[in-house]
Amino acid sequence: MKGVGVVPKQRALALVDHPEPSITSDHQIKVRTLEVGICGTDREICTFAYGRPPAGDEYLLLGHECLGEVVEAGSSVTGFKPGDLVVPSVRRPCPHPECRPCREGRQDFCCTWEFTERGINQRHGFMTELFVEEEAFLTPVPAHLRTLAVMAEPLTIAEKGLAQAWQVQKRLSWADPNLNGLGRGQGRNAVVLGAGPIGLLGAMKLLIEGFRVFIYSRSPKPNFKAEIAAAIGAEYVSSKEVTPEGLAAMVGNIDLIYEAVGEGQVTFDVMRVLGINGVYIFTGIPPEKDPIPVFADTLMRNITLKNQAVIGTVNASPEAFAEAIHDLAEFQRRWPSAVNALITGRHSIDAHRELLMGRASGIKNVIRFN
Ligand SMILES: NC(=O)c1ccc[n+]([C@@H]2O[C@H](COP(=O)([O-])OP(=O)(O)OC[C@H]3O[C@@H](n4cnc5c(N)ncnc54)[C@H](OP(=O)(O)O)[C@@H]3O)[C@@H](O)[C@H]2O)c1
Ligand SMILES: [Zn+2]
Ligand SMILES: [Zn+2]
Repeated sequence: MKGVGVVPKQRALALVDHPEPSITSDHQIKVRTLEVGICGTDREICTFAYGRPPAGDEYLLLGHECLGEVVEAGSSVTGFKPGDLVVPSVRRPCPHPECRPCREGRQDFCCTWEFTERGINQRHGFMTELFVEEEAFLTPVPAHLRTLAVMAEPLTIAEKGLAQAWQVQKRLSWADPNLNGLGRGQGRNAVVLGAGPIGLLGAMKLLIEGFRVFIYSRSPKPNFKAEIAAAIGAEYVSSKEVTPEGLAAMVGNIDLIYEAVGEGQVTFDVMRVLGINGVYIFTGIPPEKDPIPVFADTLMRNITLKNQAVIGTVNASPEAFAEAIHDLAEFQRRWPSAVNALITGRHSIDAHRELLMGRASGIKNVIRFN
């Protein structure tokens, strides 16, 4: 089968001839790849900063954002049949018996850091024609989400981040958890930093939770990302035109910030204006750089005096995948054009080199396999 992989020892990206996999246990499912999304992680693996092939292999197949179709199900599989659409998760548990998160299916919180990840770390990814996966690592997708479900995996980051934020905000015991049935974010203000796929999907999630949403990103208006923001009912503010203080003056108390820029300077500048009892969710995974000045004492004072919480979010639980599928359907219902517009290109496998190593363009690019 054709696959796209990196060969770290040769620092090369290659179209590889990958052997067709077969089911080897009753709980496994064979899946035909339909679409694979490309993200910053794939592009970074193509700079050979990280990305480790499975033991004994020279290459690592890329791809961790995937939509597929079941072609064959093992005899003990109960939840899937041929023809069903599925989205696989990425992280697989570490082998250590003492790692409770991994033993309880929450390898997104692995304590040993010896987990593996499909398409990233010691397991082949989905950028190939067919793959085999355990039933436990697949989430069902309704047929009407065929054009959107490739974005489920990047949306799970917001799902996990928000789920944690709500755990923290249970401390605000007087707050109505679902004001008038309008969502837990009703009456609250959220700022999303960055208008890439992670930021725009996060903004959509916050909107359906009832928040008033501002997107604070670099490029001034007019631009395509700002048009999507307007279409979903979020206010787009350019960091080139408005300072963090100016942003805070527009918003009022900032109850939640969802960071999706992956850039330390703006992330910590905006942290200064997080509001009283606010939660700051970090998604960014920037490469190591030289130290930068930050208002450390201001941040410390604020975090303490304003009861603030800072949370990281990476990978996700099966519940977060199910929630992402549920929410994509809600995005489709509310903003069919805007959510479709997040996928700015569907390409054949022949475009892999340009997509992975060329100039980044568009919002979410996808490789189509059929
Ligand atoms: N936690 C996880 O599991 C996970 C998974 C995937 C990705 N990520 C991380 O999430 C972050 C966002 O990913 P993405 O794919 O959405 O990124 P992206 O496509 O590069 O988008 C980044 C956005 O941030 C804006 N931006 C960049 N620098 C800025 C600055 N200094 N001030 C204001 N805005 C700035 C960009 O503005 P322009 O539109 O003007 O370029 C763009 O809209 C990355 O750090 C990535 O590593 C995390
Ligand atoms: Zn990704
Ligand atoms: Zn573990």
